[in-house]
Amino acid sequence: MAETFNLQNIVEPLLDWFRGNARVLPWREDPAPYRVWVSEIMLQQTRVEAVKPYFQRFTEALPDVKALAECEEEKLLKLWEGLGYYNRVRNMQTAARMVMETYHGELPADYQELLKLKGIGHYTAGAIASIAYKIPVPAVDGNVLRVIARVTNDDSDIMKQSVRTRVEEDLQEIMPEHAASEFNQALMELGATVCVPNGAPKCEECPWKDFCEARRLDCWQSLPVKSKAKPRRIEEKTVFIIRDGERIVLRKRPAKGLLAGLYEFPNTAGHLSREEALLWIRDQKLKPIRIQKLEPAKHIFSHVEWHMSGYVVRVDELTENESGMLFVETADTEEKYPIPAAFAAYTKYMNIRLGNEKFAKEE
Ligand code: ADE
Ligand code: SF4
Repeated sequence: MAETFNLQNIVEPLLDWFRGNARVLPWREDPAPYRVWVSEIMLQQTRVEAVKPYFQRFTEALPDVKALAECEEEKLLKLWEGLGYYNRVRNMQTAARMVMETYHGELPADYQELLKLKGIGHYTAGAIASIAYKIPVPAVDGNVLRVIARVTNDDSDIMKQSVRTRVEEDLQEIMPEHAASEFNQALMELGATVCVPNGAPKCEECPWKDFCEARRLDCWQSLPVKSKAKPRRIEEKTVFIIRDGERIVLRKRPAKGLLAGLYEFPNTAGHLSREEALLWIRDQKLKPIRIQKLEPAKHIFSHVEWHMSGYVVRVDELTENESGMLFVETADTEEKYPIPAAFAAYTKYMNIRLGNEKFAKEE
């Protein structure tokens, strides 16, 4: 944050603005704790306009915590259908059951207690506590992070938990004791309608236009700073299709981690040259007769990319050794040995004949 920026300055203009500009929303007209909770969970994944009809239908069908706790799963999912992220409504039901058991059906009027409920994090706990119970705690979502980053010209990475925590602490400092609900909702509202996430902010309509640092420096485009997800790690591999007359070599992957427990073609790190590949095969106590290079292939997982090169290797008769390799009939691989799609580029070579072996047959 700019050293000189006094965050206290944002409070009064924001509250004044909100008094004249708050949208009329169903959960605002009657901010009962349960209704605030339902609306905030729905609003985490969907825009206000799209949420309205869902909210009406959901709260009519399930008007309170007890009804939610007792609702049949089929019906619950049906009420949520179209909103997506079904775990959120499942978590809500788990939380509702806990509220029935532990808090006599009333959401607790306590930020720390709210945090203990399934699916309720800092933002949702802050929203319920402040909007429904008027407790002076902040509720920091993406909208709030954006408007605060801009008005103060703060280029910290808002994807970092430490930055979110600091914004919560800064807002706690200036939280108006008797207007927490209005203050928090005003911050969200400003982010949703004026200092918008996509496209240019409407600075002329903004209650902070006279002192906003992003406006003064014309740097709203670069704020907030939001780090991209980590780039995927790239792993280079050499994959071996090793076979004798009838059988092929597979290995079972470890019980934990990527593709746990599935079967794979033997492979090793790095892109090996033909000579290196032959050495590797001999290290496995196998006797290569012929080797042929295959085309490279790529497979993309969520956090890793495999960049593979491959060899098909004909070996002298396969004999059991200590290397953990399995010698399987190629016909059995489809039914008994699940080989992940990551190796799809090479499975087609399980049955081919190699080099002069092939010509010999065709003659
Ligand atoms: N977005 C999420 N919660 C909101 C709220 N209570 N008011 C306005 N926008 C929101
Ligand atoms: Fe956002 Fe413009 Fe308001 Fe600054 S003045 S907070 S950039 S809308």
